[in-house]
Amino acid sequence: MAPTDRRRMVLGISGGIAAYKACELIRLATKAGFEVRVIMTRAATEFITPLTLRTLSNNKVVTDMFEEPERFEIEHVSLAQWADVFVVAPATANVIGKMASGIADDMLTSTVLACKSPKVIAPAMNTAMWENPITQRNIETLRDFGFIVLRTDKGQLACGDIGYGRMIPPERILQHAIRAVRRSDRWSDLRCLVTAGPTREPLDPVRFIGNRSSGKMGYAMAVELWQRGAEVTLVSGPVCLDPPEGIEVVPVSTTREMLEACAARFSSVDVAVFSAAPGDFAPADPSDSKIKKRPDAGRLVVELEQNPDIAAALGEVKRKGQITVGFAAETERLVENASSKLAAKNLDMIVANDVTAEGAGFEVDTNIASIVYRSGQVEMLDRMAKSQLAAVIADRIESLL
Ligand SMILES: Cc1cc2nc3c(=O)[nH]c(=O)nc-3n(C[C@H](O)[C@H](O)[C@H](O)COP(=O)(O)O)c2cc1C
Repeated sequence: MAPTDRRRMVLGISGGIAAYKACELIRLATKAGFEVRVIMTRAATEFITPLTLRTLSNNKVVTDMFEEPERFEIEHVSLAQWADVFVVAPATANVIGKMASGIADDMLTSTVLACKSPKVIAPAMNTAMWENPITQRNIETLRDFGFIVLRTDKGQLACGDIGYGRMIPPERILQHAIRAVRRSDRWSDLRCLVTAGPTREPLDPVRFIGNRSSGKMGYAMAVELWQRGAEVTLVSGPVCLDPPEGIEVVPVSTTREMLEACAARFSSVDVAVFSAAPGDFAPADPSDSKIKKRPDAGRLVVELEQNPDIAAALGEVKRKGQITVGFAAETERLVENASSKLAAKNLDMIVANDVTAEGAGFEVDTNIASIVYRSGQVEMLDRMAKSQLAAVIADRIESLL
């Protein structure tokens, strides 16, 4: 998170087996820059000790509504006001039911009721409890009241059942907490399309022509836009990155598939960021069977044909008000090449980087970019993490909204 972001989390822990995962959530949240204060239900203290949570959070853990307060303030109200985000993880069926009904008979539920900040609820329970229409109704009620209720994972539960009801992992819960504190009204109704990664152009059923794109820049871009509150679709070539939480990922392989996936969605998006590295050429006649080695021939000649240009094709059908951002990976005459691409593809800005420079381009976690605008203005940026560059690009997009 950026240093200016709000970062105070109240973590409510209720009495389920998944309570032990709250330890990891505190660790990750603290690392991400949150100050965490914990409230436990009485049942939660049967599963993990306040001592562990106090040590991890470096703060007093509240368990009892009627204990002597440290300062003269009404603690459930002061904690409710202190919180930038209130996370309940795990949220038992019982606590979900109480929150949905406005019951406030312990410190956790009282503080939730008094809290006006965003509330992120991570349910965890046995499959039958989860599927029970009463629980589902309570979840719908909470969503209607603006609570961010996360889905559950399917898997083997502590009780031995296999099904939905398992709490999603702490790192994914944290992403929702970060989004809850970062999201802004500017982005909340916007739909964004981001492309990422390389493409694979088949030579035969087992071989392809690819490129060195890791997808890191596009994934960072998608996460940044999602955290600001946008709805994001990520059209991704084959990469070794985990699908980001909350983002619809459309996997594709070839440039033509990437174009098809983007074209199907382009008219309904407000912002499109083309950060993928689609292959410019594809074998004209890929073989149906594996090309065999020939002992007599030292060379294999493959004819390539030019692929369609995704950003240029969509630039032709771009409507007024839509914002499109391109990326240009260059090895020479950076700004000059980027400027002509910006015009040819009808982009609002293009992020140019010299992929031969150390700490820039493919595979690494940092980038050194220059942003070229429609006005002809060029903004030269220092070397920075791809996540930081994504934030700069999002700021520049925001100024055009
Ligand atoms: C071993 C054990 C595991 C439990 N796990 C869960 C659970 O994962 N989810 C849940 O909703 N309830 C679970 N319960 C039931 C809750 O602990 C019970 O409903 C309790 O009243 C919840 O209190 P609280 O919501 O105030 O924390 C479990 C109970 C036991 C004994």
